Amino acid sequence: MDGQVPGRQQRLPRNLKVCMYMQSVQLEMALKHQHGDSDGPLTLQHLNSMELAYMTVKESLRMASIVSWFPRVALEDCQVAGFHINKGWIVNIDARALHYDATLYDNPTMFDPSRFKGEDMCTKQQAPYSFLVFGAGGRTCLGMNLAKIMMLIFLHHLVTNWRWEMADDDPSLEKWAMFPRLKSGCPIHLTPI
Ligand code: HEM
Repeated sequence: MDGQVPGRQQRLPRNLKVCMYMQSVQLEMALKHQHGDSDGPLTLQHLNSMELAYMTVKESLRMASIVSWFPRVALEDCQVAGFHINKGWIVNIDARALHYDATLYDNPTMFDPSRFKGEDMCTKQQAPYSFLVFGAGGRTCLGMNLAKIMMLIFLHHLVTNWRWEMADDDPSLEKWAMFPRLKSGCPIHLTPI
């Protein structure tokens, strides 16, 4: 033992990677905003051109999917991947398991926004039905574009106006929570830039 808490040692590279990403997002946002009307409001055009911010949002959604599974009822007998499903059966689509499936995502437990480089949010996917944060098919989230814009605006204001540090870096998750979330509630200290 070198006197350090093992969990912390393992978490450090990942945290550094997240920090580096957030810095790139910050730089990208500042530059994009400057290239447009620097004193003007943030426009849809700015938001649409923020590729790194967009990739960061998408990776965050993959790792912390709000809707973890979708219950469905089979309307007719069918075959899925060699399994016979009878009409009337309730089928649960486990979105979170798909988002952490190593056959679909390399190093699925790593926060790595670059895996989504060059992709278009919600429309293009790595493999069909591998990114289900907003569902798919007839019940796809009606608010996904609004949600995307809200997340990008939030990220923009957070990274361009504030510095932050974790007030509690305990990584333990709340037990039996519907969604994966930190026990601590993830408190942060904010300081204006
Ligand atoms: C990050 C934010 C959001 C996420 C991750 C999310 C995710 C989802 C998912 C996964 C579904 C499909 C559930 C299913 O198939 O059973 C859904 C449905 C829906 N969402 Fe969202 N949503 C978000 C934000 C919003 C917002 C901001 C609105 C509205 C302003 C919205 C409105 C809806 C509606 C109306 C449906 C039902 C669609 C239908 O059943 O036809 N969502 N959402």
